[in-house]
Amino acid sequence: MKQISRDFFLFLSKNRTLNHGAKKWGLQLGASKVVAGVTAESAMKTVKSLNEKNLMCTVDHLGEFVTDKKEAKEAADYCQRTLNLIAEYGVDCNLSLKLTQLGLDIDQDLCLNNMYNILLTAKKHGNFVRIDMEDYGHYQLTLDILAELRKKFDNVGTVLQAYLYRAESDLDQLKGIPLRLVKGAYKESSDVAMQDKEKIDANFLTLIEKHLLNGSYTAIATHDHSIIEHVKKFVRVHNLPKDLFEFQMLYGFRNEMQLELVKEGYRFRTYVPFGDDWYGYFMRRLAERPQNVAFAVKGLFSK
Ligand code: FDA
Repeated sequence: MKQISRDFFLFLSKNRTLNHGAKKWGLQLGASKVVAGVTAESAMKTVKSLNEKNLMCTVDHLGEFVTDKKEAKEAADYCQRTLNLIAEYGVDCNLSLKLTQLGLDIDQDLCLNNMYNILLTAKKHGNFVRIDMEDYGHYQLTLDILAELRKKFDNVGTVLQAYLYRAESDLDQLKGIPLRLVKGAYKESSDVAMQDKEKIDANFLTLIEKHLLNGSYTAIATHDHSIIEHVKKFVRVHNLPKDLFEFQMLYGFRNEMQLELVKEGYRFRTYVPFGDDWYGYFMRRLAERPQNVAFAVKGLFSK
């Protein structure tokens, strides 16, 4: 049953007609609980209130199905505008983005150029940009672009997914680079990705421990209590400083635990998505945790 609903929501997430309709509907189905409004200004207000609770943030301007150069350039301009706005509001927040939004599927040089412009703006403000990791079809391209960018910029990092067999050897190549480590959100073939939850969890811990012991800044992005408890113990035993890592969770998920971790003195960052292209993001979150359907259905009746 769980598998059926996961596949069903992943299928819905790719539906262009529904995606198009969603832009017109505005935030619906409870999506406003996990998406911080449709404009960068509304996201800044959410970030400000999270900062007041000592939660750092990263904002992500949601975008799907970029098919031409003009759209890719517009997305890049919007990223720069968001970085300027972060500086204007004086909030503790960096930027997360996806390379397909910036034209990765259209022209890799265009995508690289868009990234140069974004990183220049980020650098001007002393800010950092995280490249989210997408599906396996974009994996090597993303690592290649990161390598190119790191020749000129130190304010950029990416994400490694623990479900990939090759994640550990890639992590070895990325020593010293700030990484966000996650379990992995996409449906991947067993040729490239582990399918067994226990194996993925074990590999997730291996990656976290290795990157931390390398002395590389590590963002541990998970809602999984047992992983978090393991990390807390590991850093205590190895006497690792609390400023070597941060925990990350998505906006609207495990709110109590987010605050609890801050209270315990850990660095914590909330991932805050925003924008009118909320539909695909929302469907992928439902796929991950079908229990969320309850609040989506509730959202139909309350705004
Ligand atoms: P998982 O879903 O495996 O759940 C494990 C256990 O944790 C559950 O059984 C339950 O006990 C508990 N739990 C989980 N969610 C809960 C909730 N909402 N309430 C209560 N208990 C809960 N992926 C990717 O491929 N590329 C990327 O760039 C990113 N980026 C990213 C950033 C951030 C900040 C986060 C948090 C996640 C991502 N991801 C991602 C998604 C990631 O790969 C993964 O799909 C999800 O985080 C789900 O896995 P978890 O580790 O959170 O727990």
